[in-house]
Amino acid sequence: MQEELARIKEEAERDLRHAANLQEVEAWRIKYLGKKGLLTRVLRGMGNLPPEQRPQVGRLANELRAWLESELARRHEALRAVEREKEITSGAIDVTLPGRPLPRGRCHPLTQVLEETVRIFVQMGFAVAEGPEVELDYYNFEALNIPKDHPARDMQDSFYIDDEVLLRTHTSPVQIRVMEQTAPRVPVRIIAPGKVYRRDDDATHAPMFHQIEGLLVDRGISFAHLKGTLQAFVEQMFGANRRMRFRPSYFPFTEPSAEVDISCVVCGGVGCRVCGQTGWLEILGSGMVHPRVLAMAGYDPQEVSGFAFGMGVERVAMLKYGIDDLRLFYANDLRFLGQF
Ligand code: DAH
Repeated sequence: MQEELARIKEEAERDLRHAANLQEVEAWRIKYLGKKGLLTRVLRGMGNLPPEQRPQVGRLANELRAWLESELARRHEALRAVEREKEITSGAIDVTLPGRPLPRGRCHPLTQVLEETVRIFVQMGFAVAEGPEVELDYYNFEALNIPKDHPARDMQDSFYIDDEVLLRTHTSPVQIRVMEQTAPRVPVRIIAPGKVYRRDDDATHAPMFHQIEGLLVDRGISFAHLKGTLQAFVEQMFGANRRMRFRPSYFPFTEPSAEVDISCVVCGGVGCRVCGQTGWLEILGSGMVHPRVLAMAGYDPQEVSGFAFGMGVERVAMLKYGIDDLRLFYANDLRFLGQF
């Protein structure tokens, strides 16, 4: 049997040298290594050997198999190289063709708008602050001058976890958390981007969306500071010729309060379907921080004053890019996302 193995090896070596192409190499593989090949036949015959000879013959057979396999790989690779060379020199493969570009990822449009907004305010001297998305009723409502039975709670239909804990409905609670940490020092100058949650779901409302809160507290802060700051933001975000207006409004945590509109990005202010023929689009809520809110957070309203604002990131992105359905942001359709 050992002689037979030696003979197979010799024959295989000779055969392989004569294999001139990949098909012949494959035929060689089947002849020696295939299921009905010569090596398999030897292994089958081992049952007839006296038990004491089996280990040695088994070892030799395994060595032969390893040798056959490595010879096969070597020859295969050599012939492949020859064929590739032939394909190239004959012109079957054009190596001068430009490569196929790999698709490149990019940031989600909401991330882009969020980062752009942060950049604009950081440049004006604001620091970035964060707060928890699972928030205490106290920070989300109570400390913002919205007591338990206040009707303003109805406008922010909430996801409650228990009586005192909920998913924050806005980023305004970050104002309180920051002031509590900083009081009585000034200035406080932060923006707070993040996710917020409300029980809404339609073309312009999602149960989860993003806001960016702004807060500035210092001595002698007036509505003029608020106006100038937001004007600078609007010009950088939407372009220098976008007009902006303040409209009186109501929020329990600011007094006076205002909503800010910009001239419609679609019609430029003449009036169209998108702006409801008014020529204006609302982008944020704002106002002067209510004295009671300052006091609850540890500041003396006689000493300091502040302004605050809160904007919806989705809303800003929709206006900036003229998108009419909020749900596009969450559908993960690359045909949509690839445009930004
Ligand atoms: N938190 C308000 C909302 O989600 C938006 C807002 C209005 C934030 C006025 C403010 C502000 O900081 O001063 O509807």
